[in-house]
Amino acid sequence: KIVVLDFGSQYNQLIARRIREFGVYSELHPHTMTLEEIKALGDVKGIVFSGGPNSVYNEAAPKCDPAIYESGIPILGICYGMQMVQHDMGGKVLPSDKKEYGRTEIKVDTECPIFTGLPETQTVWMSHGDQVGELGEGFAETARSDNTPFAAAANPEKNIYTLQFHPEVRHSEYGNEILKKFVFNVAKAQNNWTMHDFIETQKKLIKEKVKDDKVLLGLSGGVDSSVVAALLHEAIGDQLIAMFIDHGLLRKGEAESVMETFGKNMNINLVKIDAKDRFLSKLEGVSDPEKKRKIIGNEFVYTFDEEVKKLTEGEEIKWLAQGTLYTDVIESGTNSAQTIKSHHNVKGLPEDMQFQLIEPLNTLFKDEVRALGEELGLPSEMVWRQPFPGPGLGIRILGDITEEKLKIVQDSDAILREEIAKARLEKDIWQYFTALTNMRSVGVMGDQRTYDYAVAIRAVTSIDGMTADWARVPFDVLARVSDRIVNEVDHVNRVLFDITSKPPGTIEFE
Ligand code: XMP
Repeated sequence: KIVVLDFGSQYNQLIARRIREFGVYSELHPHTMTLEEIKALGDVKGIVFSGGPNSVYNEAAPKCDPAIYESGIPILGICYGMQMVQHDMGGKVLPSDKKEYGRTEIKVDTECPIFTGLPETQTVWMSHGDQVGELGEGFAETARSDNTPFAAAANPEKNIYTLQFHPEVRHSEYGNEILKKFVFNVAKAQNNWTMHDFIETQKKLIKEKVKDDKVLLGLSGGVDSSVVAALLHEAIGDQLIAMFIDHGLLRKGEAESVMETFGKNMNINLVKIDAKDRFLSKLEGVSDPEKKRKIIGNEFVYTFDEEVKKLTEGEEIKWLAQGTLYTDVIESGTNSAQTIKSHHNVKGLPEDMQFQLIEPLNTLFKDEVRALGEELGLPSEMVWRQPFPGPGLGIRILGDITEEKLKIVQDSDAILREEIAKARLEKDIWQYFTALTNMRSVGVMGDQRTYDYAVAIRAVTSIDGMTADWARVPFDVLARVSDRIVNEVDHVNRVLFDITSKPPGTIEFE
């Protein structure tokens, strides 16, 4: 396997994921991991140091265990990873007031094993402030650009390769090839890892962890918790108790379909709890999106706890399984990456709560989870269902939540889904939904003046949820959706279409 050490870049899991795409197992670990701990992971063929926001001159600059340099395990340092290596090896990193950000043309030495067979001139993605001004001992320059004399440098004797640019980002024309060459030519890893291996490893890990204990799962019917349900069902069978809490913030018709698929067809231990009143009363008058997320998240856990106690009559359940994805983890802040927003299903268990977490998907991206679901034999309409956030429609209603507003989002969203399906666009659009803006404005219907809500349509294309572009939904489809929403949904007199990508927006509209 290849270990990626995390120095705080937002996109570092992308490195691990690209390597997995080559059929080589790769996982991300904190930069504080010692050589001994790395060796304990098993057959580690190579180590990648990720990028990160720090300067090596920063007092708090993250460091790796120096023993790694002497281990002989091949190393690839990317961006900050390169600067740290060069600094540690006696080179000089220059603080630069000119940041280099974006596409840059570089010239590479094709004799270097990570550039062999690639064009001498290629475009790469740079994103750095500091840069290396003097190389460390034993290093030779292997690529350069107009602004960066050391766009790459290598010390073949020690098997250390460093890149100032980001090969993991798609804008780096041959980035994938460069990573591949490191993985196969330098680290000499073998491409024999598959999703099937992932399942077997996870099953083993889960069994070792929980032994004969029961495990609870909050099943939402979304792709992530469904895949966790299938995986756990395979691993521990009836030790899995899935609880479906209907918080009343689900899409139209969703509760029924969850019961049908998992209870009836998959034969999973499944309990349904109707908790709409409880959630709505807790949310009454709350309009701050982060507060809503926290309330919904906490209420979930409390409801769980209470209902489980009822269910097991005092017998303790220690484990709680969750479908947390890598994107959820990173956006809630890992050790080194910045928090963007708190996802309800990460961290967050109150202190007096007994559950320990099992999160078997927390290194995966959405498309990897779908591949996993298919491998587990889940029906394809479930695997390809669009993502739906844990806090549900609660974060698609701007401002405070009321029954009336809930019905507006449910009905308008159902219309959008119907029309997208009729136009056969489901697979082209990664995620699409309506959100209720908290804005009311004047309209005219019949001869009457109205003063009603505006519904927003959000539709995006994305590969992994980390970035997204607004979907170019055909105008005639938008026109039909708009007509139908205004005509069929009470208290709506305007429909807006969100044309913001992520970044700077987020996918959800909260
Ligand atoms: P954002 O809005 O952060 O969304 O761009 C990225 C992806 O994550 C989904 N999402 C969530 N999923 N719990 C989840 O399980 C959450 O709290 C949550 N918030 C956002 C969102 O729908 C999109 O697919």
